[in-house]
Amino acid sequence: MQIAVAGSIATDILMTFPGRFKEQFLEEQMHKVSLSFLVDELVVHRGGVGANICYGMAQLGHRSLLVGAVGPDFAEYRAALDEAGVDTSHVRVSATQHTARFTCTTDQDANQIASFYTGAMAEARELDLAAIHAAAGGIDLVLIGADDPDGMLRHTRTARAQGIAFAADPSQQLARMDGEQIRELVEGAEYLFTNEYESGLLCQKTGWSPAEVIDRVGVRVTTHGGDGVVVENAGGIVAKVPAVTASAVVDPTGGGDAFRAGYLTGRAAGLDHEPAAQIGCTLATTVLETVGTQEYTLDHRSFLDRLTTAYGPEAATSAATALNLTH
Ligand SMILES: Nc1ncnc2c1ncn2[C@@H]1O[C@H](COP(=O)(O)OP(=O)(O)OP(=O)(O)O)[C@@H](O)[C@H]1O
Ligand SMILES: [Mg+2]
Repeated sequence: MQIAVAGSIATDILMTFPGRFKEQFLEEQMHKVSLSFLVDELVVHRGGVGANICYGMAQLGHRSLLVGAVGPDFAEYRAALDEAGVDTSHVRVSATQHTARFTCTTDQDANQIASFYTGAMAEARELDLAAIHAAAGGIDLVLIGADDPDGMLRHTRTARAQGIAFAADPSQQLARMDGEQIRELVEGAEYLFTNEYESGLLCQKTGWSPAEVIDRVGVRVTTHGGDGVVVENAGGIVAKVPAVTASAVVDPTGGGDAFRAGYLTGRAAGLDHEPAAQIGCTLATTVLETVGTQEYTLDHRSFLDRLTTAYGPEAATSAATALNLTH
């Protein structure tokens, strides 16, 4: 099964300031701010929802196709994704703009000063999913994740016109899109992914009741943080899976993306919703236990052990067989 993942691709530059911002802000100087913080730590993380999901799928042995737009600075990032087993051949490289970049400095009080540069991500709207569908020899499912909003709408329209099944995963972009746009992203989706908060926001903005949402999609998958995930269709709840307890949540970002990666890899391998969601929750916890969203390498044996501890030996056996993972 050929899965494409359309979504943001970004680099996170995270710095630590060993002091307190508030000591640098002088009230009488606020009309003319010119501050420079001497930071003592800088880490660069590969991120963006599209790349995170593809990376997670690759860790489970599924090669998916990444669809997104980046800048000429992408070479090193691309090499890492290629090495991991992601198909990056359809990523668009902008001639003029840098890859989207999140730059954040955190002080000793955990206050943050951050900027998000959209950059090349805005060119996601130039990508033609129909051409990629043809070039790739047919896409069976495309996940449309948070990205340039015009790009998300375009991909959804193209998927519908081409008869490509799609998964709507608008996450952060729900906040800035209006009801009409959101309805367009969701109507007719094979899967709809949201967390609990986004699920409420989606109903509020679209004006649809939860039952009306279900009527418009094949399967609705709602993640509930530490309380796991619920999978429903028009007939009711088809799976309710508890989360896998984390030894320590060292970095809360990327859990949602990892869940999607695990669940879709399971579904692509023919697993039912419950075992697929168990794989998703296990991968999500692995990511929450590491700093960054693509800084982990999955050891399949430990992964299967974890599935066994959380959900029992049959869960691990069915995952190992379906995904061809070795104990
Ligand atoms: N505290 C936790 N302990 C264990 N598992 C968790 C925890 N938080 C999240 N998860 C796992 O991650 C999945 C997705 O989490 P959540 O509902 O928080 O998504 P999200 O809000 O979209 O996260 P993200 O910050 O990645 O966007 C959950 O279904 C669960 O499997
Ligand atoms: Mg999320």
